[in-house]
Amino acid sequence: MVEILFRLPDGSERRAHVAAGSTLLEASRDARVELEGACGGSMACATCHVRIDDAWFDRLPVPSPEEEDMLDLAPDWQPTSRLGCQIALDESLSGIVVHVPKSSLLDG
Ligand code: FES
Repeated sequence: MVEILFRLPDGSERRAHVAAGSTLLEASRDARVELEGACGGSMACATCHVRIDDAWFDRLPVPSPEEEDMLDLAPDWQPTSRLGCQIALDESLSGIVVHVPKSSLLDG
């Protein structure tokens, strides 16, 4: 299992424990973090935008050019921004800390 800590805009935190191979978007659902994820993971919306904690960002594979293009559309983009649907989790990422921008939440 892979543990993920989501930090929400209101300062609260939620944890998920998901099987290796799950995406961050799937983990957000496990943690009841209401990331919009409007396109269901087909990289057509950027509403699954999250920011990876600085301590973890460099451990992720680099984004594809297609992900980079879609991230250009994300409100509140930061250098550590990624699309949650494109991050596949494995045991080496257990403990990852993910910041959820308000603009990515369904009620945001
Ligand atoms: S869910 Fe649409 S790009 Fe990730």
